[in-house]
Amino acid sequence: MAGFVIAVDGPAASGKGTVSAGLARLYDLPMLDTGLLYRAVGVAAARAGGNLDDPADAGAAARALDLEALHDPALRTREAGEAASRVAVHPEVRAALLDLQRAFAARGPGAVIDGRDIGTVIAPDAPAKLFVTASPQVRAERRWRQLLGQGEAVEYEAVLADIRRRDERDSGRAAAPLVRAADAVLLDTSEMTIDEAADAARRIVEAARARWETSRGANPTTP
Ligand code: DC
Repeated sequence: MAGFVIAVDGPAASGKGTVSAGLARLYDLPMLDTGLLYRAVGVAAARAGGNLDDPADAGAAARALDLEALHDPALRTREAGEAASRVAVHPEVRAALLDLQRAFAARGPGAVIDGRDIGTVIAPDAPAKLFVTASPQVRAERRWRQLLGQGEAVEYEAVLADIRRRDERDSGRAAAPLVRAADAVLLDTSEMTIDEAADAARRIVEAARARWETSRGANPTTP
């Protein structure tokens, strides 16, 4: 692995996106939100009239993924999150997105990559790994406020039900389930403000970076 890679995993609305964006700014690293890839696949498969639970339909959408589609605001909706979680269970879909994500991790300067399987599958050798989580109620409230802010009228209870269903699907699937890597540092943001979470993440990553630099210093031939 070339540069300093920060792997950030965690369930929906845990704060991992905000934490990742802060780390990317701090270390001046490119960032990849891998949830967007799965969202784009889910939305494309649905638009093509495919069955999201059919591995052939979902796999075809993943292989045809257009990276321009990642800027589509439709990817931020509740439906897109649900569609993403459904297509993400298929090994065909995960395989189609693997090279792109690994190539991003291997690029020169390093990267901040957030998702569900970054520390376990995409970048298992990443020198810094965080597992960002929060209680389902706190996550639902955050997501609910965010959706209201986007103009999506929705009940809190419905968002909480979404979160629980997604947790179950993302953690229970056979292919690359959401699980904390053994060497990932747990960051529970339930009781934290955005600034506190960003600060805690920075401290975790600073410690990992110091270890990484020491190991590179001790091993200067390592690329
Ligand atoms: O992070 P997000 O809420 O945008 O992710 C949407 C869905 O995509 C999530 O419920 C599961 C799936 N996903 C995945 O399986 N693996 C990833 N690395 C990222 C997302």
